[in-house]
Amino acid sequence: MKKTDSGRPAAPKRRPLYKDPAAPVEARVRDLLSRMTLEEKAEQLCQDTIGKDPNPDNHGVPRGFNPRVGSIYQFMGGAKLRNRYQRAAVERTRLGIPILWAIDVIHGWRTTFPVSLAQAASFDPSLTEKAQRVAARECKADGGIDWLLGPMVEVGHDPRWGRNVEGYGEDPYTNGRFAAAAVRGMQAGGVTAACPKHFVGYSACEGGRDYSYTEISARALREWYLPPFAAAAKAGALTVMSSFNEYDGKPVPANRALLTDELRGRMGFKGFVVSDSGALSRMGNLGYARDPVEQTAQAIRAGNDMCMGDGLYRRVPAAVAAGKLSMEEVDRAVARVLRVKFAIGLFDRPYVPERPTAETCRLPDALALALRFARETMVLLKNEPPRVARHSSPGAAHRAEPVLPLDPKKIRRIALVGPAADEVHPHLGQWRAAAEDLAKGVNGETFLDAARRFFPKAEIRVARGCAFWDYTPPTARDAELRAEAVEAARGADAVLLCFGEVPWMAGEKKSRRDISLPPAQAQLAGELAALGVPLVGLCCSGRALAFPELAAKMDALLWCWQSGCRAPTAAMEILVGKTNPGGKLPVTLPRCLGQVPIYYNHHPKITPECPDYQDFPGENGPWFPFGFGLSYTTFKYGKVKVESRKSKTGQRTSDLRPSTFNASVTVCNAGTRAGKETVIWYLSDPEASYTQPVRRVIAFEKISLKPGETKTVRLRIDPMRDLAYDLPDGRRVLEPGDFVLSASLRSEARFAL
Ligand code: BGC
Repeated sequence: MKKTDSGRPAAPKRRPLYKDPAAPVEARVRDLLSRMTLEEKAEQLCQDTIGKDPNPDNHGVPRGFNPRVGSIYQFMGGAKLRNRYQRAAVERTRLGIPILWAIDVIHGWRTTFPVSLAQAASFDPSLTEKAQRVAARECKADGGIDWLLGPMVEVGHDPRWGRNVEGYGEDPYTNGRFAAAAVRGMQAGGVTAACPKHFVGYSACEGGRDYSYTEISARALREWYLPPFAAAAKAGALTVMSSFNEYDGKPVPANRALLTDELRGRMGFKGFVVSDSGALSRMGNLGYARDPVEQTAQAIRAGNDMCMGDGLYRRVPAAVAAGKLSMEEVDRAVARVLRVKFAIGLFDRPYVPERPTAETCRLPDALALALRFARETMVLLKNEPPRVARHSSPGAAHRAEPVLPLDPKKIRRIALVGPAADEVHPHLGQWRAAAEDLAKGVNGETFLDAARRFFPKAEIRVARGCAFWDYTPPTARDAELRAEAVEAARGADAVLLCFGEVPWMAGEKKSRRDISLPPAQAQLAGELAALGVPLVGLCCSGRALAFPELAAKMDALLWCWQSGCRAPTAAMEILVGKTNPGGKLPVTLPRCLGQVPIYYNHHPKITPECPDYQDFPGENGPWFPFGFGLSYTTFKYGKVKVESRKSKTGQRTSDLRPSTFNASVTVCNAGTRAGKETVIWYLSDPEASYTQPVRRVIAFEKISLKPGETKTVRLRIDPMRDLAYDLPDGRRVLEPGDFVLSASLRSEARFAL
């Protein structure tokens, strides 16, 4: 036994309580806090990048490695290097607090799943939950990532904003369902944390200009922007990211009413809030606090616990010394951060096993899921008999079959033309794990790769035709490229026009002032349409686009989004009828930019009969509405029935407690192919004390039906949840009166509360 200087045996060194895995988390947090210096606390509230930051949009300045820092983001060094750094934190600092490793994992780590907007088109959140489970598993094992900076759950109304691709569309309820599913998936293993973002309102940036001013009424905040975060908080999100924008004159990260009263108070969020990259030190750019100490104090007070990228909270000791921040306020923020570290077991298992990527990523179950998911996302917008047949003889249009599905046996020659014909990128979306993943064959396939498998006997011609994105004056080379494509298409039995957007046309800082096709793509489409061959458009996109005139010249149009590493196979399955398309639009497609903002749950217009635009007579509506999507079969809806629930004695449930309602509708597959249909339940409240949207989604359910099969889809309406609404001050009110319930706008019923 060791002896002390006095010669007495030394008392055995007790393990501090916070290191005891059996102790309750709160006791561990309190114990650790009591041992920390103010500087150590400040470090826990900082998130740095080290080395090269792979997100070019970040404002953060990469620093040298500091083992006392709370978190490191955008780390791409892999599990081994992460463990080495982690060892420095755990074994070579005074208290051994592990670092929380973070990166944006939005739609997969090594296995690239459909972008979030495409995921929403599946109307199947259970697939998102499964995909995020895989993403979390892969990023933890392969990258040593504990904290996934997603999901992005912002409702978007302006397709110019590039970040719509990261969210789940224009509907608050749909965003909420997918937000909750993503959070559950990301946190499923208990060793990773999700970070729903950006709280709140960033998507309302004026004109779709990224990082710009947002003007949001209190009503709009409650009706559109807050609900997805409430759903994410309810699902147990461990962290939330605050947004860059201001709300009502205050930058969100310094906005106590939002971060504390709303998020923690009303929504019951229990985790910690991190700012967006560099957002705090940039508050001065909004004409708000410019002094770093002031910024620090304001943000922590408001409830923004960790700062991303700017190291701002290293001013915490100065803020305390200046009397701008109390020790209690600092401790509250630090405790929140530590609690999450304990919750995901970081203190007890700070390291990750170091295994080769091939053993942890892109495993067969992950790739199978990527394919299954991609199939569900694609939306068939148009499918008509080929124009050639339509125009050949009077009445031919009635007899001719729609161009899809194609019969590979009848296709002798097929042409794949357009910039997406033989490229992996258009399918992968903005957030991908590593640059080498872009290489063909490593992560994904191209339309051409898949076409070779689905049309093995056909002669396949391929031509790029033009670049995705080129606003420079046309050159002779451009004309040559186009001529090659037209030649490849001439005389083909089917032409697949593969076009749209590559990842760098949609995403952060990827706003567009125009949402039609770039000029070179439009010209190519026009010249191909003039050939009179059956023309099928395959549109890859990360947002709503508008090109109705060009689409009118196509015989079929399949919206493929950026649906991940197996998207081309899924698209070909649909083209040949192996898969019956069932995706539906989670956003409204406008006819042109002048109609933006245009979304399904708008508020009523006082003179509905008046055309919206005098230079657009008669065209009030969108190009394709929210919820639209064709199938190779047809679904018939029965009458919607609504019954108020009776109690056992035959009495209505107490008049004091609002009764619940049971609604149902039958859906029949009236065609000859099996198919999937999403029943979208819309509610309208025709008269209220505060004006209400013309309709809003309160539920949806996707069902599979064999030919001739009928199913009854049921809905339980909970008045407080489904019929009530939030007042601008946050109180929820339920008003008696008439309501209208519609099933997919195909059948409806009126009922009274
Ligand atoms: C984005 C966030 C992202 C962060 C870290 C910021 O520029 O707005 O969504 O999580 O960078 O990459």
